[in-house]
Amino acid sequence: PSLVAIVPAAGVGSRMEADRPKQYLTLDGRFILDITIEKLLSCALVSQVIVAVSADDPYFSQLSMANHPKVLRVDGGVERADSVLNGLNKALALGAQWALVHDAARPCLLVDDIERLLEQVAADDDGGLLAAPVRDTMKRASPDGFVDHTVNREGLWHALTPQLFPTKSLQRNVAAALAASIPVTDEASAMEWAGHHPKLVIGNDTNIKVTRPADLKLAGFYLQHEDN
Ligand code: CTP
Ligand code: MG
Repeated sequence: PSLVAIVPAAGVGSRMEADRPKQYLTLDGRFILDITIEKLLSCALVSQVIVAVSADDPYFSQLSMANHPKVLRVDGGVERADSVLNGLNKALALGAQWALVHDAARPCLLVDDIERLLEQVAADDDGGLLAAPVRDTMKRASPDGFVDHTVNREGLWHALTPQLFPTKSLQRNVAAALAASIPVTDEASAMEWAGHHPKLVIGNDTNIKVTRPADLKLAGFYLQHEDN
C-alpha cells in the first residue's frame, strides 16, 4: 500500500468528563471512532486504517468497523505521539510510503478536505497538514495575567488533522523528537524540529476536535448538515 491512515485513539478524554473515552461516545447512534474511520476509508487512496487503541480498551470490539478488512488495531502509548509512533511502525511494516495521521476525535472531517490535502502535498517530502487561519484577536499575557501585547494574527494558523508525511521520515523524526524530549503535539512539529517546512493546506473549520462537552453538540450539528 502506498498510503495508510493512522488514527490515534488511545486517549482517555479527561476534559470531556464522560463515563468513557470520547471516541466511544455516540452521535446520532454511531460511535465517533466508527464515523472517523469511515470518513478515512471513503477516500479511495487510503488502503488501510491503523487505529492505536489502549491495550485494555473494552470498547473497540463493539465498533462496526472493528472487523473491517482494512482496519488494523495497534496498541496506544502514554502520549498521543507514542500512539502515533506505534501506528507508524506498523505502517512501515506494511511498506506504506505515505501516512495520513488523523485524530479519532475529529469525526466531522470532510472527504473533500482529505482529497485537497493529498492533491496539494502530492509528492512533496516536506509533507503538509490541514489548517485554518486564526480569526480571533490574539493576546500575549504577561505572567501577572494581564495583557502584555496584542499578537499580529496575520500568518497564524490553527493546526488541524489529517497531517500527511512520508512514513519513514515521519517515523524517524517523531522517534528522535520524543527521545530528545521535544514536545510533539502534532506530526508537523516533529518534522519542523528536523528542519522541514510542511505545507499549510486550508481546511474546513467544521473539522473540530471533540474536546469538551459542548463540542459534542456542535459535532452532531455539523455531521447532520454535511452534504458529502
Ligand atoms: N490520543 C492517543 N494516545 C494518547 C493520548 C491521546 O491516541 N496517549 C488520541 C486521542 O484518543 C485523540 C487524539 O489523540 O483522538 C487527540 O488527543 P486529545 O484530544 O487530547 O484526546 P484525549 O487525550 O483523549 O483527551 P484529554 O486530553 O481531554 O484527556
Ligand atoms: Mg490529550
